[in-house]
Order: sequence, then C-alpha cells, then structure tokens
Amino acid sequence: MKDNNESICIYPGSFDPITNGHINLIERGMHIFDKIIVAVAINPLKVSMFTVEERKDMIQQAFSGNPNSQRIIVDSFDGLLVEYARNKGVHVVLRGLRAMSDFEYEFQMTFMNRKLDRTIDTIFMMTGLQWFFVNSNAIKQAALSGACVSGLVPDNVCDKLQEKIRSLKKKT
Ligand code: PNS
Repeated sequence: MKDNNESICIYPGSFDPITNGHINLIERGMHIFDKIIVAVAINPLKVSMFTVEERKDMIQQAFSGNPNSQRIIVDSFDGLLVEYARNKGVHVVLRGLRAMSDFEYEFQMTFMNRKLDRTIDTIFMMTGLQWFFVNSNAIKQAALSGACVSGLVPDNVCDKLQEKIRSLKKKT
C-alpha cells in the first residue's frame, strides 16, 4: 500500500458516524500527507449505532465527489492500533483535538501507543473552530431526539441517520 516516497498517516477512530469535524480534519490532513488511511476501529466492547461496514460505507460515500478521494483509503482494524500501523508500514497516527477536554484522553492514548511501539508517533491537528462542539455522540443524541443535524454531518450520513433511527423505532 505504501510507496517508498509517499507520506502516509493513519487517522483512526470510531466514526460512529463520521462528522463534518472529521471530514475537515481529513481534508486538511491531505495538505500534509499524500495518503490518509481512515481506519475504523472494531471495538466489541463499545455499543455502536452503526456496523463497521456501514461506517466505512458512509466515509467512502462522503468522499465520493472529492477530487482527492483516491488518496483516502477507508479501512477497519481489530486489536491494537500500533499493530495495525506496523502491519501497514505506517509510522504516523493523526488525531484531532477539540477542546481541552480531549487532551487528557488523547494524552493517555498517545503515551500508551508510544509505550507499545516507539516507532509510531501521533500528531495532532486542532479541529476547525466551526466544528469544536461537534462529536458523534452529540450528533446521535440530537438526531435520536428529532433534531436536524444537517450541516454537522455529510448529507449521506444525515440520510443514513434518519434511516437508522426509523428502523430502531420500528423495533421498539
Ligand atoms: O473515535 P475514538 O473513539 O476517540 O477513537 C479511539 C481509537 C479507536 C483511536 C482508540 O480507542 C484505539 O486506538 N483503539 C484501538 C485499541 C488500542 O490500540 N488501544 C491502545 C491505545 S489506548
């Protein structure tokens, strides 16, 4: 997957679902890296609204009209992030930082990853100001309560959220 001279990073996350904050970070990351692997973490201990396949499809679709879409690789991984990165031959992990509240969590995760593999470094980009308050959990809560989340997530994600909420409501 990695040519010798190309710069590549892994942007890992739950992406349940991808938001415009994530999209903004990926687009800005494309100015720095030749390729970005957007890696959806498979975490059986975490309850998610969307399956891993649904999350990957939403990411892929969100970039389908983007002229740089061939530089974005959508994948998923199980287990340790550093192992996944090692297997891909990638040494840089990209993460977004919003408010200070993200810092402690990111700090712990970065140091754990660094302890596990010193060859893998994490770099942080500040989330675009416009997206500071946007996170997947807030999006899901708002959408479940009937709020319109259009403009906070890509249109395809907005549609998929409505579809998912309809199917969840049918089951209850
Ligand atoms: O979008 P999220 O939920 O903040 O992403 C967190 C994620 C998936 C990047 C993190 O939980 C992760 O890397 N999981 C893989 C397991 C792992 O490597 N754990 C050790 C580092 S704490």
